[in-house]
Amino acid sequence: MYAVVEFSEKDSIGSLREATNIPHSQHEATVPFKSRLLAIKANSGNPSLSQPSVQCLKQTPIGVKELIQKLSSEDSVDQQMYSLTEEYQLTEENVCLRFLVCSLLKDIAAAYFPECIIRPFGSSVNGFGKLGCDLDMFLDLDPISRGNIKQPSGGLSLEYQMKRTSSERSATQSILAVIGECVDQFGPGCVGMQKILNARCPLVRFAHQPSGFQCDLTANNRVALKSSELLYLYSQLDRRVRAMVFSLRCWARVHSITSNIAGAWITNFSLTVMVIFFLQQRSPAVLPTLDQLRDLAEPHDKCIIEGNDCTIVSDLSRIQDQGNTETLEHLLQEFFEFYGNFAFSRLSINIRKGKEQYKPEAAPLHIQNPFEPTLNVSKNVNNTQLENLVALCQESAWLLQKGGAVGPGHNRDTPWGFAALLLPSVSQAARSKGKRRKTLEPASKRMRSLLESLKSSKTSAGAADSSK
Ligand code: GTP
Ligand code: MG
Repeated sequence: MYAVVEFSEKDSIGSLREATNIPHSQHEATVPFKSRLLAIKANSGNPSLSQPSVQCLKQTPIGVKELIQKLSSEDSVDQQMYSLTEEYQLTEENVCLRFLVCSLLKDIAAAYFPECIIRPFGSSVNGFGKLGCDLDMFLDLDPISRGNIKQPSGGLSLEYQMKRTSSERSATQSILAVIGECVDQFGPGCVGMQKILNARCPLVRFAHQPSGFQCDLTANNRVALKSSELLYLYSQLDRRVRAMVFSLRCWARVHSITSNIAGAWITNFSLTVMVIFFLQQRSPAVLPTLDQLRDLAEPHDKCIIEGNDCTIVSDLSRIQDQGNTETLEHLLQEFFEFYGNFAFSRLSINIRKGKEQYKPEAAPLHIQNPFEPTLNVSKNVNNTQLENLVALCQESAWLLQKGGAVGPGHNRDTPWGFAALLLPSVSQAARSKGKRRKTLEPASKRMRSLLESLKSSKTSAGAADSSK
């Protein structure tokens, strides 16, 4: 339906504009805003347009059924997890398309703020984006005030007259309200505008039909931009990180631990922080702590946002590999056991220290916000959702231990290894266990002893493990 066309010469764009008409219709009126989205109209009798001659690039991932089939034909759990990552990750074209949509929106916002930049953040750029994920954008107005301090000459100075508001938050709200309205009224293909201005982080949400992206536009959200940089850095440090995160995000989504709808579910962001925390716990550690990333930073990396120290090293070569060589299969097994047994009622997950801390508040799940230590990123999660996660971890630990290592020679039509963990029966079993636990055993004693027995059987098979 759409093609993205790049020009090698700027002049060509001028010629194109000259050759482009404003649409006329007898029954409708148009808003005369010239966007960079053009439509090719077939003149009668031109057959070439009806014959597709270009190959369309994939912009959505394969379905779960097909994925399970594909993974079952791999030779190892590690290979399954890498294969899932390959299937799900954003393609280079899809990332380009995301930057293009940002620049199309900038065309609209620039009517008021010519120097503004609209930047993508979140999973579009943090290394963990799945084809079809939403497009998080940040309207950056800082370039407007850059270089603001000018020396007064002759005792006089000039300043712009500007509208004043009671707080930065209310300025952000009114900017987003106006830009949101313009996008809604003038942006071709921008539909379903929702203004969610009273949220902790005000945003406008809409669908961009030509690209197919669900868009969230925020302003004054610099910390989120920094968190995206942090996740990107972690995603680049070790190949296993992305494979773990992609696989666990997929596993959580299939079993409704995460959801597309906002609510008491764990978010992908929280789940990713949980994976990072787990990888910091290994011995030797797979990932460094946030404090270590700060200590390795150079003077030009210094970054303070709203009083919070958000400094992290930017030169990845300064980070030393600790030499952890565990297989993905082993890490996955350990992840399930770690969170299947984690003392969520007492402890908080803290990637800054890389160590669990006592919970400062009573929320069922406490994950300290990496750059805003007083905030809990999983404040929304309720007890039921946490119990579902724990039960699913326990069930998956059990299943993977039982049948995960089945490799070559296995009947490839039957889901095995990681693919078997995506079957609906897993979450049903986990849920019914969760329910039983509530009524019969207050402290999940049964599962704990099961996991203990798994651990001891594994210690005796330790030699086999370390040789994997
Ligand atoms: P998807 O589910 O693929 O969209 O993942 P995502 O990482 O893009 O998550 P989401 O769209 O929910 O949020 C976008 C970005 O906002 C995240 O990557 C984080 O940087 C940031 N973010 C999301 N939730 C929180 C939160 O609760 N606290 C903080 N500080 N940042 C958050
Ligand atoms: Mg997102």
